[in-house]
Amino acid sequence: MLNDQLHVLLTAGPTYEPLDPVRFLGNRSTGKMGYALAEAFAAAGARVTLVSGPSQLPDPTGPLIRTVRVETAAEMFAAAEPVAAEADVWVFAAAVADYRPAQVAAEKIKKSGETMMLELVKNVDIAATLGQRKRPEQFAVGFALETTNELAHAQDKLRRKNFDLVVLNSLRDAGAGFGHDTNQVTVLDAANQFVNFTLQSKADVARGLVRLILARLKTT
Ligand code: CTP
Repeated sequence: MLNDQLHVLLTAGPTYEPLDPVRFLGNRSTGKMGYALAEAFAAAGARVTLVSGPSQLPDPTGPLIRTVRVETAAEMFAAAEPVAAEADVWVFAAAVADYRPAQVAAEKIKKSGETMMLELVKNVDIAATLGQRKRPEQFAVGFALETTNELAHAQDKLRRKNFDLVVLNSLRDAGAGFGHDTNQVTVLDAANQFVNFTLQSKADVARGLVRLILARLKTT
């Protein structure tokens, strides 16, 4: 830890990738899980920097949480990068768009032919890029939302992005994932040990994850 108080960087919510002045590519993430984590870390006494994509939720309150609002993946990376250098724990709960429109039209795109092609270009992988710079005393947690071969995909993400823990959400579980107030997760580490959480409120999942992360920090 850099000083007595733990500093947590959290990414949360969706990203919106503009197409023209009135349209964007987005996703169904609400930010609920990330915001619940911000509150749970603050309740445990940590200082939190929450970098949030466009969520309808109000900023979490309390003196320990600073919220930075962004729209795009590039903005999320630019806001997270300097914080990551000095944070002790990184939690990547955001649903970042993997691609963005290659061109952002200056004016509203007018309807023309029967079909329309959109060219997309890859966005920065925030977790993977920062993961390459992770120092031994820093601790990174990622999320994985999978529909098939869940454990194998989650384990692969943990390795590729240099996570210490990965939180797996399966869309096959009723009541879990985007938009729900409840979540059912499995937490995996590099040794392929896993902890299953029962279906519970996102606030309770957040408290459980914070307990688990803090316990891991003490042993690393
Ligand atoms: N993530 C990120 N930046 C991205 C994409 C993902 O920081 N551009 C983070 C997410 O916040 C999450 C983890 O990486 O913690 C896994 O996200 P996911 O979308 O499941 O992974 P992808 O690498 O995009 O894999 P795929 O879409 O192929 O499943």
